[in-house]
Amino acid sequence: MSLRPVPSPFDRNPDLGELMVSEDELAQRIAELGKVITDDYAGRPPLLVGVLKGAFVFMADLARAIDLPVEFDFMAVASYGSATKTSGVVRIVKDLDIDLTGRHVLVVEDIVDSGLTLAYLRRNLLSRSPASLEVCALLVRRGDLVADLELRYVGFGIPSDFVVGYGLDVAERYRNLPFVCAYSGSDPAGLDGTVPSVARR
Ligand code: IMP
Ligand code: MG
Repeated sequence: MSLRPVPSPFDRNPDLGELMVSEDELAQRIAELGKVITDDYAGRPPLLVGVLKGAFVFMADLARAIDLPVEFDFMAVASYGSATKTSGVVRIVKDLDIDLTGRHVLVVEDIVDSGLTLAYLRRNLLSRSPASLEVCALLVRRGDLVADLELRYVGFGIPSDFVVGYGLDVAERYRNLPFVCAYSGSDPAGLDGTVPSVARR
């Protein structure tokens, strides 16, 4: 696999590593996902449920690639657990405004790593009696997780590197990069430990 540098002027930032998904690749794949979702949900427009904060950039682009009268809601979750490991116990920091009863819910996620957050969300949302519940994840850490996690729509499978950009952050930074790249900086002071734990895997 050849290493791709991030485009100029971002290549001057030593904390940004290999380019994982370029702006063009994102645009092309999201257009494809939008077409498939438009076909799959014809006659039953979905309620898009974005998982904050990471999904906000993806959700904005994906929604504009879907040619249906979609509706939007957002929820924010925080994972309990030690700095180095997700426990799978998730706390809802901001809940949905819209009642899910009878709705066709499409959860929009930035990245699925262990899948624990998503497993919790799925259980929680299913208990609210939606007519259907599917997941669209931009990134999956290991492609082979897709079957286990029943991810209906996936943008890209990526390797174990911790990544930033296109909504994904390290300590709230880099969400506005127009591409996804590896984060090669050291663990900045005050981080919650997410970087070292994921990067070690
Ligand atoms: P999971 O419960 O292990 O699947 O964790 C998923 C969550 O961890 C995502 O929604 C992200 O917020 C965060 N996360 C996992 N990997 C990365 C990464 O490489 N960069 C930024 N955030 C990540
Ligand atoms: Mg995060």
